Amino acid sequence: MMRPRRLRRTEALRDLTRETALDARDLIYPLFVTARSDAGEEIVSMPGIRRHSPEGLDEELAEIAALGLKAVLLFGLPARKDETGSEAWAEDGVVQRAVRRIKARMPELLVITDVCLCEYTSHGHCGLVRGEEILNDETLPVLARVAVSHAQAGADIVAPSDMMDGRVAAIRAALDSRGFQDTALMAYSVKYASAYYGPFREAADGAPRFGDRRAYQMDPGNAREALREIALDTAEGADMIIVKPALAYLDVLRAAREYTVLPLAAYNVSGEYAMLKAAARLGWIDGERVMLENLLAMKRAGADMIITYHAKEAARALREKA
Ligand code: PBG
Ligand code: ZN
Repeated sequence: MMRPRRLRRTEALRDLTRETALDARDLIYPLFVTARSDAGEEIVSMPGIRRHSPEGLDEELAEIAALGLKAVLLFGLPARKDETGSEAWAEDGVVQRAVRRIKARMPELLVITDVCLCEYTSHGHCGLVRGEEILNDETLPVLARVAVSHAQAGADIVAPSDMMDGRVAAIRAALDSRGFQDTALMAYSVKYASAYYGPFREAADGAPRFGDRRAYQMDPGNAREALREIALDTAEGADMIIVKPALAYLDVLRAAREYTVLPLAAYNVSGEYAMLKAAARLGWIDGERVMLENLLAMKRAGADMIITYHAKEAARALREKA
């Protein structure tokens, strides 16, 4: 008789035959850096996640390194917002300062920066606006300028999340012409217009002041379109691809895995984190086990790496198991 249970009998057999495993080296930890007076505050809908001033990052960085994490993804909250999001490319902008500080103290830690305008614009959209329209081509040079300012500060990887068409090519060309040929580009190629970003918008103060993002982020009903976005970003020079959100889009992640040979990241977004934390807090689920199961599912679906607010707890849990 065929008995799959033979290989489940002991821990050693299960370890030996497991197809997918989690590794702290594949996790990317998002950090919110703020130029405002809200440094140190915990984000209400994201228990355990705080905003930091660039100068107040050191303790967090030490913890990250001690846990064996190798990469962070920076989001900025500027002191002031304006119509064009000009703080996003300021030499002394909050992300630029944070990148310099990290690179001065921990040059080996990979620094990825989110390239977008929504945290910096008074209207909260990811591009320039005219009336109620989000302008595509006019936004491209602005995004390129933001990316170059991050590279100048020392970012290893820039990650555009705006969803304007043509931004990967525009950013790649700007980086190359300024001597940043080695700055890598991780594209949020497959980013859906999702309600799962709710807590993030509180954390980064980046909710649109009018309308929504459905005219530029992807429609949740579309999976084939994800492959089209990947094809375009690949042709434009993306080095890595992000699929976002993760859990409700594991089918898309799997399709992306089969479609591209580029390194693939899943973004385990704020709403996914918040739901898990809320249920765990109520005692309705075992938070740690569900977290590890979720992250494993993302890898099994095809992610090489995972951007996750759970990175520190996951690294801790993996260490305890080892
Ligand atoms: C900004 C941006 C968002 C996220 C990452 N970059 C929010 C949005 O597009 O509205 C979401 C991250 C999360 O929910 O964890 N362009
Ligand atoms: Zn944005």
